Amino acid sequence: MIVTLLNQKGGVGKTTLALHLAGQWARTGKRITLIDADPQGSALDWSQQRALEGLPRLFGVVGLARDTLHREAPELARGADHIVIDGPPRVAALMRSALLAADLALVPVQPSPFDGWASAEMLALIREARIYRPQLVARFVLNRCARTVIARETAETLADHDPPVLAATIGQRVAFADAAQSGRLVFETDKDSPASREIAAFAAEVGRIAP
Ligand SMILES: Nc1ncnc2c1ncn2[C@@H]1O[C@H](COP(=O)(O)OP(=O)(O)O)[C@@H](O)[C@H]1O
Ligand SMILES: [Mg+2]
Repeated sequence: MIVTLLNQKGGVGKTTLALHLAGQWARTGKRITLIDADPQGSALDWSQQRALEGLPRLFGVVGLARDTLHREAPELARGADHIVIDGPPRVAALMRSALLAADLALVPVQPSPFDGWASAEMLALIREARIYRPQLVARFVLNRCARTVIARETAETLADHDPPVLAATIGQRVAFADAAQSGRLVFETDKDSPASREIAAFAAEVGRIAP
């Protein structure tokens, strides 16, 4: 399966969730390749930081921030159980290419009433990609949930939304920021932490959508 984390907004958690999804699957014995499709290369930075810290390699990270990504992805997918694409912000051509490569698009959003949901542009890109790939599945994922009540209410409101929202949500937790800076993933610091449990539930739900 090829999964892409996508939202034209920056700072919503694309890289954080891409790395943790890849890491969680790698932990369970899957062969994973993460494609860094963001010209800023944050996932590559994380991987480099990891090497500097002498931490073991969990999965391969390759930089491919080109709008020919969808032409290269099938080749990369042959050597892996799953591909996770950390999507770029803003650049429409890159986002299009990531959507053409993917079986599943996950759109991280913050459950804020003021934040607005995915912009019309994001939804238009998904609709457009479905013309070529009718089988493309899309889901919102609530990240940085500060208060469970708002998250639950948002999730309930959006249960019938298209694309639907995942039941699994990710909290606003310092563990995520700390992990990123040290080239780690939350379960490497504390495998029983709330952050680790959220990631496990998130990865399990994603795995059930498109095994
Ligand atoms: N659930 C979370 N809790 C706390 N901090 C988070 C969470 N998700 C992301 N962050 C932090 O927010 C910032 C932006 O996240 P990032 O994954 O880089 O977003 P994007 O890739 O969409 O730009 C990073 O500093 C990251 O550590
Ligand atoms: Mg990013």
